[in-house]
Amino acid sequence: MSAAVPDLGNPDLYRSDARFAMWRDYAVADELVWSEPGSSPHGFWSVFSHEACRGVLAPSAPFTSEYGMMIGFDAETPDHAGGRMLVVTDGEHHTHLRRLITPFLSRTNATTLDRFIDTEVRKCLAEALAAGRVDVAMTVGPRLPAAVVCEILGVPPEDRERLVELTNHAFGGSDGTFDKMSPSEAHSEILMYFYELVERRRSAPGDDLVSTLVSDGGLSVRDVLFNCDNVLIGGNETTRHSITGCFHALSTVPDALDRLRADPTRIRTVVEEVIRWTSPAMHVLRVATEKVEVCGRTLPAGSPVAAWLPAANRDERVFQEPQRFLMDRQPNKHLGFGNGPHHCLGAALARAGLTALLRALVEQVRSVTVTGPPEWLRSNLTQGYLHLPVELEPM
Ligand code: HEM
Repeated sequence: MSAAVPDLGNPDLYRSDARFAMWRDYAVADELVWSEPGSSPHGFWSVFSHEACRGVLAPSAPFTSEYGMMIGFDAETPDHAGGRMLVVTDGEHHTHLRRLITPFLSRTNATTLDRFIDTEVRKCLAEALAAGRVDVAMTVGPRLPAAVVCEILGVPPEDRERLVELTNHAFGGSDGTFDKMSPSEAHSEILMYFYELVERRRSAPGDDLVSTLVSDGGLSVRDVLFNCDNVLIGGNETTRHSITGCFHALSTVPDALDRLRADPTRIRTVVEEVIRWTSPAMHVLRVATEKVEVCGRTLPAGSPVAAWLPAANRDERVFQEPQRFLMDRQPNKHLGFGNGPHHCLGAALARAGLTALLRALVEQVRSVTVTGPPEWLRSNLTQGYLHLPVELEPM
């Protein structure tokens, strides 16, 4: 264990590129790092290597998500959504919730949503091309996932602007860029909105996710709200940054779009590399259910352990030249969508969004140039962009 380790939950650590060197050193040494109480009331452990992160999240690992899956929660300060919201529920109830929600986010549904996604991507790109120079972190990035999530949940089109605005405030970082309300106020408003939507769907059900959750006899209104929130957060908070990061990644490779035009079958491989290189889910936390060995050290039951996914995804023992965005990287066993029973349920949708974006870029854009340094979100949970100014050269 390193001496004088900073509180790794401090969001300021993740506003600069220095984080990559920090993560690389920890991953290469397969470190298990303790952060003293601060961002988390009782402190927490961290793992960084690909092997350790995969191990902590593995199906057989003696860890639970039910106390919460992010820094700040632990056995003594549990998340009140534990056991009710999919991502912080284990066991049979997790299986039940996953079964209810899967059809709306699965590959099959991603295919039926393809047309919708394609239309939205083209709309966003047309606006960006008309403007020439855009901050993709404020425009294309948030718009596409918000539209898709609203579609899945059954949010009527007239309410979508409001939901996108609220989502930006709730999850756009705590640096004051979105300053009409605090993140917690915005989050409460979102839940109030879903409360109204649940009431509407109760009397007039549709074929959307909210209606399905409402008509499941086993879920209280509170449980329905928690799970709408899970999909809303899961779908918006991460995907917006992989979309923004896709522009960033392409700008690092000369002739990236020409190369894809020459061989569009490479898009599938590029999508995986975008997920690895951007790794928007920064950490996921688990709490040990029994005594467990992690990185050669025995931790007692009740120990909270954060797995830093971008560190694992740039572990040089698994990925050659991990800092580079390599369009042909194969194999690419990234942990961007997590691992084990909570593996991202929206992975197919996220991939579909990036695929549609890359296809549209190949058709319409000659080159992508980043015109200013990326500004990173002040967050320990989401590795993302506050601003990314780009110039798009049309075909
Ligand atoms: C779970 C990442 C897109 C919905 C997860 C987890 C990760 C992740 C790492 C595991 C959490 C854990 O182990 O505690 C990402 C990334 C995305 C993305 C990087 C985009 C690039 C989406 C989308 C949706 C979504 C588009 C839905 C519209 C969910 C849900 C879970 C989840 C519902 C919980 C699954 C469970 O607990 O069984 N995601 N996600 N995600 N994600 Fe995603």
